Amino acid sequence: MTAYNFDEIIDRTQHHSAKWNAFERDCLPMWVADMDFRSPPAAIDAMIERARHGVFGYTMDPPRLKEAIVERMERLYDWRISPEDVLFSPGLVLALCATCSGFGQPGDTVLIQTPVYGSFFKAVRANLKIAANINMEYVADDAHTFHYENDYDEFEQVARDPRATIHLQCNPQNPAGFLYSRADLERIGEICLKHKVLIVADEIHSDLILEGRHIPIATLSDEIAQNTLTMIAPSKTFNLAGLACSVLIAQNKDIRETAAAALQSISAHVNIMGYEAAYGAYTGGEEWLRQALRYLKDNRDYAINYIRARLPQIKTTVPQSTYLLWMDMRDLPIEGDVSAFCRETAGVAPSPGEFFGEAGQGFVRLNFGCPRSTLTQGLERLRAAVDQLAVTA
Ligand SMILES: Cc1ncc(COP(=O)(O)O)c(C=O)c1O
Repeated sequence: MTAYNFDEIIDRTQHHSAKWNAFERDCLPMWVADMDFRSPPAAIDAMIERARHGVFGYTMDPPRLKEAIVERMERLYDWRISPEDVLFSPGLVLALCATCSGFGQPGDTVLIQTPVYGSFFKAVRANLKIAANINMEYVADDAHTFHYENDYDEFEQVARDPRATIHLQCNPQNPAGFLYSRADLERIGEICLKHKVLIVADEIHSDLILEGRHIPIATLSDEIAQNTLTMIAPSKTFNLAGLACSVLIAQNKDIRETAAAALQSISAHVNIMGYEAAYGAYTGGEEWLRQALRYLKDNRDYAINYIRARLPQIKTTVPQSTYLLWMDMRDLPIEGDVSAFCRETAGVAPSPGEFFGEAGQGFVRLNFGCPRSTLTQGLERLRAAVDQLAVTA
């Protein structure tokens, strides 16, 4: 069996990487959610083989990729969908935008539990809808870690508004990395059904499970499935984000046709290489993913232990999923923007907490989808800068 080398340092600075070329060379990028690992050979080989054919005209959605997705959903979740339920989009943000444009009217509200992935707000705003933000409750576990809990009475109160049209759901949750429990999902499903709010379930991180089990909300009942548009992708899972191939699943014909029409209205077509890489990864990338998840879990534990021992003023979540660590830096004596402190004083660029909504102020999100030596370097830079704060205080 091949052992994949996730310790390898791969120079990304020569390829216009959004992650690596956004800041000065001496600032270590640990922000946008892609990993510094080479993708599975099955994805790379599929693209090479297709490239050798040499003709790259317009393409159709590949039926075999739809079938691979149907098979995958049944294998992972015992979720029986059919190939007709599957649509494709060049990216999930674009699919979120198309959804916010295709469903409801301008002025309608969209329920969002915050802090959450910032493009949710963009998708809502760009389509003249109003974000109804419901802040999750911050709960400390001990002096070092915390988690969030959700208040569903407040959620229902917002859902009751006749203008409430869509709930954008993020499970596994970005930035906090938790998995919604079955009980929480049932509550959400039930409230959305009762108040006729469409569930748009962004489950892009659902393959990146470090512990626990992901439950697609559409698997809870037929009624909930009929009220849900699910979004997944091989992009986070197999590090293929630049290839822009994402998947929508709608078992309800009206929802599917509305989503398809919204995507068609902006000519949203996936490119040939995106399809090839997705098919290669979904059908031949499982062993790579198994090893990547083991590496990511070790990285998570390493980062959390490091922060506990050497950066005790910073509190973090313990993500069950993703390669993203949500860090509460509010106890540090930093004036102003904590992410600017990380960039300018420590030389590390995490994602600014404000991207995830107002509830993200004083937080940053650190990407640990990188070789351990890079992660160590980032944490050591942060520690040196924080130690310096104590000296100058
Ligand atoms: C929850 C969530 N949805 C969507 C995306 C982006 O998807 P895409 O690159 O396919 O537009 C991300 C990327 O980080 C994400 O975390």
